[in-house]
Amino acid sequence: MIPYSKQTVTFLDAIYVAMQVRFKSLTQGKEIQKFEESVAKYVGAKFAVAVSSATAGLHLSHLALEVPVGSKVITSPISFVASANSILYAGLVPVFIDVELKTGNISIEKLSEKLKEEVISTVVPVHYAGAPCDMKAISKICKEREIHIIEDAAHALGGNYESGEKIGSCKYSNITVFSFHPVKSITTGEGGMITTNSEDLYYKLLKLRSHGIQRNGTQFQNPILGNTNGKPNPWYYEMDSIGYHYRMTEIQAALGYSQMKKIDKFINKRKKLAARYDRITAGNKYFKSIQQNTRMLSANHLYPIQIDFTKINKSRNEIMLKLRQKGVMTQVHYLPIPLHPYYEKLGYSTYNLPNTMNFYFQILSIPIYPNLGKLE
Ligand SMILES: Cc1ncc(COP(=O)(O)O)c(C=O)c1O
Repeated sequence: MIPYSKQTVTFLDAIYVAMQVRFKSLTQGKEIQKFEESVAKYVGAKFAVAVSSATAGLHLSHLALEVPVGSKVITSPISFVASANSILYAGLVPVFIDVELKTGNISIEKLSEKLKEEVISTVVPVHYAGAPCDMKAISKICKEREIHIIEDAAHALGGNYESGEKIGSCKYSNITVFSFHPVKSITTGEGGMITTNSEDLYYKLLKLRSHGIQRNGTQFQNPILGNTNGKPNPWYYEMDSIGYHYRMTEIQAALGYSQMKKIDKFINKRKKLAARYDRITAGNKYFKSIQQNTRMLSANHLYPIQIDFTKINKSRNEIMLKLRQKGVMTQVHYLPIPLHPYYEKLGYSTYNLPNTMNFYFQILSIPIYPNLGKLE
């Protein structure tokens, strides 16, 4: 069976992880720092914070920005539920705007309109399928109103903006968040990474990821308990705000560090496969590929095609089952978030999101991953 996506883990990755487990630390050691530094360097950001998942990373990012509880946050309805759930975790209110049919990314026009209508604290653009949103335009509109930007780049490690920088360099945003779930650009089993250029956010994120505990003596709020005769007490730490346990293990970080050595190879392979699909789908009457304009910038995490199911007189269900019988798995990315029963109960709908609904009705992701086509 060919899945729509899967991890590519090599023998050397496995050896590197085994050495970590057998001989080195399992948690809170140097491997996490090594992995963080390798991602920060790769994307061109000053700081990186490894976390247990991108969902955790998004949650902490909202908290670190310290916007008042109840503030409104714009995100994409064409995304995994975590993009919106993390907004709710932080006591904020998700606001969905329509996407562009050609890309599945949020519409700049709709964003502009919404910012005129409502007070928004943060925008969370999702780089759908790994293709960059128009971050230059998004940042320009947001800057005028001092609105924060958190890039949901769960799909997009290895991708570039139109201006050339790597997604995650935070050229246009406060924070970027990546996912290392097995189907993503690289994997740590489960895991995520937050990147930022703000030192202030970096230290807040480090503390939030580990219970809200402060270990830096110069920051202690209770120096009497923290010191003896002016010298810091070696056992002492203090919790000065509420935090979470969202740390990544050293075992995961070892896998991530080893995987980072292959990121360019993985992304190039994805680009080649996507370009090949582009050639095959070109000129087809019944289905077309999307995001061709950003193909060479995209991390090509997914390869979604748009199918006119009415024209072919077959349902998506029939097509998926037929392909499965032939050993090819496909997937729909995504059921619009407002249509999940939890969000419907909160009062959300896709009433004002016509492109979102059209996109959802037509989309199907066909297999793409670095080892596709290789016998394993
Ligand atoms: C767009 C998007 N955002 C966030 C997430 C959450 O990532 P994680 O599974 O690492 O928490 C995902 C996961 O697939 C995703 O697709």
